[in-house]
Amino acid sequence: MTQDELKQAVARAAISYVVPGQIVGVGTGSTANFFIDELAKIKNTIPGAVASSEATAARLREHGIQVFDLNEIVSMPVYIDGADEIDASGAMIKGGGAALTREKIVASVAEKFVCIADGSKLVKVMGKFPLPVEVIPMAQNAVARQLNLLGGEARLRLKDGQPLLTDNGNIILDVHGLEISNPVALEALMNNIVGIVTVGLFAKKGADVCLLGMAEGVKTLTF
Ligand code: 5RP
Repeated sequence: MTQDELKQAVARAAISYVVPGQIVGVGTGSTANFFIDELAKIKNTIPGAVASSEATAARLREHGIQVFDLNEIVSMPVYIDGADEIDASGAMIKGGGAALTREKIVASVAEKFVCIADGSKLVKVMGKFPLPVEVIPMAQNAVARQLNLLGGEARLRLKDGQPLLTDNGNIILDVHGLEISNPVALEALMNNIVGIVTVGLFAKKGADVCLLGMAEGVKTLTF
C-alpha cells in the first residue's frame, strides 16, 4: 500500500468516531484532507464542522459542509487530525502544515482527540521531525536564541524564498536536532518563552486515540 492509501484507510476508519447530530473538529494536512472527503459522504448526519485552518475551511465548504466559528461552540465530542510524529504516550509533534495554533485551540475544545496517521509517524522518541513553533515576527531572533539554548537549531520556515506566514500572520521556527524524551516538560518550558504563540508539541493534551495505517490494516491505539 502507498502512504496515501494508508492515509485514506485511517481517514475512512475515523468516520466511526464522528457523532451523529454533533459538530466535528477537523484538522489540517493531507490525512485530514482525506478525512474531509470521507466526511462529505455522511455530511447529512452532522450539523457541520469547526476548521483548524483556512485551507481546511475551504475544503469543507467545497464539499458543502457547513463551517462553524469556534466562538459559536461550547464543546464538541471529537477532533480528528493528523500528526507529524506520535509516541507511545499519545504525545505528538504537529505543525508540518503550519496550522498548529488553530489545531491546538480547536482540539482544546473537543472531548476527544483522534489522531489519524500512517504507521511511519509512530516513533519511540520524537524530534527527528523538526519541531514547529509559531512565533510573533518581531520576536524571531530573541525566540531563536532561547530555542537554541535548549539544544536545538531553530530555522525560519520559508515559502517561495520568503518567511512563511501562518493563518494568524506569524512566522514558524522549525527546531531541528531535538531528542524529546520528556514532551510534557518541554512543552511547558517552551510555553514560557516570551514571543512564542504556540509550540507544536501536543503532549499535555495529546491524542486519546490513534488510528495508525499499517500494511496489515488499521491499528487502534488508545492512551
Ligand atoms: C498541520 C499538521 C498535520 O496534521 C501534520 O503536518 C501531518 O500532516 P499530513 O497528514 O499531511 O502528514 O499538524 O499543521
